[in-house]
Amino acid sequence: MKNILVVGSLGQLGSEIAIGLRRKYGSDNVVLTDIRDDVNLDLVQGGPFYKMDSRDGEKLLEVVKKHKIDTIYHLAAILSATAERNPQRAWDINMNGLITSLEVARQEKCAVFTPSSIGAFGPSTPKQYTPQDTIQRPTSIYGVSKVAGELLCDYYYHKYDVDTRGVRFPGVISNMTPPGGGTTDYAVDIYYAAVEKHHYECFLRSDTYLDMIYMPDAVKAAIQVMEANPDKLRHRNAFNIASMSFCPEEQAAYIRNLIPDFTIGYDIDPVKQAIADSWPDCLEDYAARVEWGWEPDYDLESMTEDMIRTIQARRG
Ligand code: SER
Repeated sequence: MKNILVVGSLGQLGSEIAIGLRRKYGSDNVVLTDIRDDVNLDLVQGGPFYKMDSRDGEKLLEVVKKHKIDTIYHLAAILSATAERNPQRAWDINMNGLITSLEVARQEKCAVFTPSSIGAFGPSTPKQYTPQDTIQRPTSIYGVSKVAGELLCDYYYHKYDVDTRGVRFPGVISNMTPPGGGTTDYAVDIYYAAVEKHHYECFLRSDTYLDMIYMPDAVKAAIQVMEANPDKLRHRNAFNIASMSFCPEEQAAYIRNLIPDFTIGYDIDPVKQAIADSWPDCLEDYAARVEWGWEPDYDLESMTEDMIRTIQARRG
């Protein structure tokens, strides 16, 4: 990877993967695009940036040619809870955005990173230690688009030899970019509420187990899988990556180690609860570990400490 393009660079994943890539490969070698340009001005002004729709193939081709791009990170997507409110729009953005990047990659011989998600699984998937290769019948439109995306990336690899790769991200927790419209967002919001109000009203049931990952590990995975030796990749796309699995009650207990008077209440959102109930409790990630050396640095305890300390320091 020398000349990289990040599509959807100001979103939850994009903002921090873009920082990680610019740090590693240099700002001038990491070109960013997004549908907006009015947030995160450090990124917008810190290197080449184009305001554009991820479905605009002509513009994308022009940018890829101009900057001699060899790798595209396609990170523009609508998350699970927002997607349920307007499924047609979610399908349009998630699928037409992806195929636009794949088509440009095919023409210009670029590699493509696309994230899939724990959302690519459904109620008939084994919930505990969900295998890499298993039943995928998701019931959310987000999940449907993620499975279709996984298959489309495999197709472009087999049919056109496009070097497509990706991981299935758990819920991503970060203290920089707030998530938007995801089912796993509670696990981020809870830290801000803990520092500011010492109380959090959770929209998922206390015993809802889901896979989560701390952002530094998510960025590491996104870069590492693209740098992996292709001869060792048997799966290429949609690697399960596990890091930690917990429920709100457990997360609250770890927060209480640092903020002893923290309390949690529950005000269940039925749409988000139904989505969470259809997803695995914890993934098995043997393929990622063996094929490209995946190993997370953070667990629930070290992430909680880092989140709380960072948010506290920022609030003074
Ligand atoms: N974090 C995402 C969501 O909740 C899952 O990939 O939608």
